[in-house]
Amino acid sequence: MNVVIKNDAAAVTEFACGLVRERLAERRYRVLGLPTGGTPVLLYQALIASYRRGEVDFAEVVSFNLDEYLGLEPTHPQSYRRFMEENLFSHVNIRPENVHFLSGLPEDIAWHCADYEREIVEAGGIDLQILGIGRDGHIGFNEPTSSLRSRTHETALTKQTIEDNRRFFERAEDVPRWALTMGVETIMDSREILLLATGRSKADAVKAMVEGPVAAICPASILQFHPAVTVVCDEAAAAKLDHDEFYRWTGDNQHRMLEFLAEQRRRVAGN
Ligand code: PGA
Repeated sequence: MNVVIKNDAAAVTEFACGLVRERLAERRYRVLGLPTGGTPVLLYQALIASYRRGEVDFAEVVSFNLDEYLGLEPTHPQSYRRFMEENLFSHVNIRPENVHFLSGLPEDIAWHCADYEREIVEAGGIDLQILGIGRDGHIGFNEPTSSLRSRTHETALTKQTIEDNRRFFERAEDVPRWALTMGVETIMDSREILLLATGRSKADAVKAMVEGPVAAICPASILQFHPAVTVVCDEAAAAKLDHDEFYRWTGDNQHRMLEFLAEQRRRVAGN
């Protein structure tokens, strides 16, 4: 895992926005996996500002959202479809036909989930999957103890997730208890993963994900097996990491390896 520690949420956003811009432009990534929640809001604002400055273009981008609450219609103010419309899609030039969501009201759950998997494959697979992390270590709505080999599926939400989502709903009884989510394996099939974590409440989850054993009790820990993951967190979310000094050193000195190698080659050639 490439762990990047930044001072605060603004610096996390700047780094993440730069990475997304760079991947869309230089690596010609087309298919994005997108999260909802409090964490990515700043990233979406930064991407909208970049788009307005002409630095990023969504005309060819295809998107798949990570998850959706079961029971909410697409126009419900708290549906993730509405969230994406309001926080990103209505502000950039992404084509409506290139945007994919899980339905909150599927007629046949198994068929719908299999169809979502098929659509991802047909689009060529996800190039860059952007993720947040739950306080309980979930990615998407893959909650603790759920299968690390899952594909898109229905799930019950844990008490903690329901409590965390309470702030978005008027009444406690309105908070959905079930959702559809890309599976852990669906996420792991992405070419590259960018996970954002900000705030003290994420420190335990970040510690378990990066330095804990790989275990279903912290679904995000499976990312240790993915070859191209960048975890970018602020100081508060990184506060419990034991090896933070190493992450800071590697983060600050990435460019130095090639310089060092060039220096050594000159030295050897000079002898
Ligand atoms: P949050 O949620 O960004 O609202 O903290 C993150 C997540 O549950 O993945």
